[in-house]
Amino acid sequence: MDARDLLTIGDVAHRSGFAPSALRFYEREGLLRTTRTSGGQRRYERSVLRRLAFIRAARAIGVPLDEVREGLDRLPGGRTPTKADWTRLSRAWRGRLDEQIDALAALRDGLDSCIGCGCLSLARCRLYNPGDRVAEGGSGARLLPPMLRRTPVGGA
Ligand code: FES
Repeated sequence: MDARDLLTIGDVAHRSGFAPSALRFYEREGLLRTTRTSGGQRRYERSVLRRLAFIRAARAIGVPLDEVREGLDRLPGGRTPTKADWTRLSRAWRGRLDEQIDALAALRDGLDSCIGCGCLSLARCRLYNPGDRVAEGGSGARLLPPMLRRTPVGGA
């Protein structure tokens, strides 16, 4: 490939809208590949822009970074995701979105009875102790629906 076809990190940041720090983060996390010039500067193939669009779309629907990586890693030869790839993967991720919506609806419904209350009572607050699951749920962050208890991976 002609070196003139390669993009600098500034080019990619400008065209993708991702900060250079996010690009370096995604590289460290194995989602992007770069080459280096003799002076050690990163260079990206143009196809990285589509890969970044894929990452942004997946993150927008709440897909954890490790699952985005898995989706990209499953593409033959690490190729750029096509429209068909996005269709297939996003279909699989739809269930996750439904789960998130259900969890948020449960939170919203709990909030209705809490507005203007402020008791945060273990005995009667549906938000603090939904369905009295605190007692039976064991230790940990039991007070949020499971979908919302997941620890986000990466921040970009
Ligand atoms: S804060 Fe009182 S019921 Fe939730």
